[in-house]
Amino acid sequence: MNALTRCLETYWSSSIGKKLIVAITGLVLVVFLAGHLTGNLLMYVGREAFNEYAHFLHTMLHGAGVWIARIGLLVMLVLHVAATISLTRQNRAARQAYEHKATIQASKSSRIMIVSGLTILAFVVFHILHYTVRVDADLAKLGATDPFGMVVVGFRNPLVVLFYVISMTLLCSHLSHGVASIFQTLGLRSKKAQGLIQQFSLALSLAIWAGFISIPISVLAGLIKL
Ligand code: HEM
Repeated sequence: MNALTRCLETYWSSSIGKKLIVAITGLVLVVFLAGHLTGNLLMYVGREAFNEYAHFLHTMLHGAGVWIARIGLLVMLVLHVAATISLTRQNRAARQAYEHKATIQASKSSRIMIVSGLTILAFVVFHILHYTVRVDADLAKLGATDPFGMVVVGFRNPLVVLFYVISMTLLCSHLSHGVASIFQTLGLRSKKAQGLIQQFSLALSLAIWAGFISIPISVLAGLIKL
């Protein structure tokens, strides 16, 4: 534990170290999103397939698996947000000392990242209350026995669907910039590969966006039903 704390302290003390923390935690979160989307697409296969998958998630490693994943994700999210806040503060202080066109441009794109990032955070809180804590009594009843039914009933409300679509659109914007930045921070963005990386980031973000928004929209349109 001591070695881990020392290692984190070393990374935290330099802006390169913090950028690495943002990139690596961002990468883990993107992998989670791809996995979560793949599982959610089972909604198109049917009730049984989706419910079996949800049952597997809750029972793997005798129920410990889901908690290991939750704690891991929470640590990734906290590190990602805290390192971003610290970097933004550091950059702001540097900008006051050295005002330059390029730094103004950089601050505009980081502002978009902050706004989209905060919306994603608000979405995650709402999403966990919606489908994990299940504050809605109807969803709570269904959640334990029929997660497929819970998702369908949850997306019958057009306002909820609208909130999901807006959040997923901001998530797409956050990812298209963030995924390209991961390559840059990890030193994988050569001049030659720059165009390809940009296209890959955009394609991945659009695929994640289309996959996620398709589910609430399909429920509302009656394509996925009980
Ligand atoms: C249409 C889109 C989505 C659907 C249908 C969906 C579905 C679900 C469901 C059913 C659960 C509850 C799992 C359970 O406890 O049984 C869940 C949990 C979760 N989802 Fe999503 N999800 C969607 C999009 C997202 C997005 C975009 C993110 C992240 C930005 C996300 C992050 C999470 C997290 C962090 C959990 C909590 C896991 C837990 O602690 O149980 N989800 N999702």
